[in-house]
Amino acid sequence: MSVGGTVPWPCAPHTVVKHDIYQRYLERWFPILLQGPRRYSSVTYAEGFSGPGIYSGGEDGSPVIAIRALVTKVPPATGVVRFAFLDNDERCVNMLWDSLRSAFPERPRTETAMPVVVREGTCANDLERVLDEMKAWGKPIFANLDSWGNAPVPFRLLQRLAANVSSEVMVTLSPQHFVRFVSKKGAAADDVFGGDPRWRTVTNLAPEAKSRHILACYRQGLRTAGFPYLLDFELVPKHGQPLYLIFGTGHPFGVEKMKESLWEVDRTQGVGFRDPRDEQAETLFVVDEPQLTPLTRQLHQKLRDGGPARVEELRQFTLLETVYRPQHVLRALKPLVDQGAIEVEGGGALRIASVVSSPPPSSR
Ligand SMILES: C[S@@+](CC[C@H](N)C(=O)[O-])C[C@H]1O[C@@H](n2cnc3c(N)ncnc32)[C@H](O)[C@@H]1O
Repeated sequence: MSVGGTVPWPCAPHTVVKHDIYQRYLERWFPILLQGPRRYSSVTYAEGFSGPGIYSGGEDGSPVIAIRALVTKVPPATGVVRFAFLDNDERCVNMLWDSLRSAFPERPRTETAMPVVVREGTCANDLERVLDEMKAWGKPIFANLDSWGNAPVPFRLLQRLAANVSSEVMVTLSPQHFVRFVSKKGAAADDVFGGDPRWRTVTNLAPEAKSRHILACYRQGLRTAGFPYLLDFELVPKHGQPLYLIFGTGHPFGVEKMKESLWEVDRTQGVGFRDPRDEQAETLFVVDEPQLTPLTRQLHQKLRDGGPARVEELRQFTLLETVYRPQHVLRALKPLVDQGAIEVEGGGALRIASVVSSPPPSSR
């Protein structure tokens, strides 16, 4: 956070992790879209809250990370890549130009191959227009919407992005912001949730349920905007406020790639991950081994609620409905098999082709 309004500001530990995720994801996104089997002749990376491109310790900001991901992973003369950076603080806008010049003293691509727009303005009033001017629509857009957590992003913009070809959004959300200011926020705040005022019932909930409610409402808003596949996760620093990132995409492949990026992140920062929907709020990892107990719990619940299922179905559920990867499923089911809490149909070892079920407690 901009400390005392200074620009630039220190890079918090969860920002380092967030940047690691952006970098790993974009290092996949640019090559897939520009060089993959269904390649596009041009794509756009846009930020509605770009910041100054540098932190007070000299660390790169997200705009520099994004351009570097392109330059290191995609050879020149591979399509046109537009970069749109918007910030409402004049100091950030001026400093971003300097940061870009110092990170890339030689322009890594020509102006035609890589147009860059840095503009002072608000995400709400100006991002859509900048994307119009750059003729970005009709080609894939990755929109990084990294506000201070209040997500002042017009619902109409989210809808337009969702309807645009192969486009994705990454939103930073601070549920605490909405919990704290619910009584002060007027009708405009409902637009953050797709116009649905149900987020306001947060005032009636127990403290531990509040953040989850805000996230659930935000997810619903993104779904209504038209993003069928969502992935949200909570970055939990040792000290300070957690940070929530919500990713929306039109394709399960996007979720898969985002998860690969998430699970590869450098663990040495001491920042943990949580599945915001895990009722017991267990951290997934702070050291090297992933903590699979929350997934074990979720799979057990699913089998109890939904009856027998193929492991392959559980892998699909895990990809699309949890922060875990399909590769985690067999390991997460094993303790349930060992305890007799679930059964493998026909006996034998647990495999991807197995069907598993949770017998009613009386039959165990
Ligand atoms: C979290 S910082 C962005 C950090 C940057 N994405 C990075 O990772 O290096 C949020 C930025 O949003 C800007 N900002 C705040 N409200 C805004 C608004 N309504 N529209 C555009 N920018 C805004 C702030 O000036 C600040 O630079």
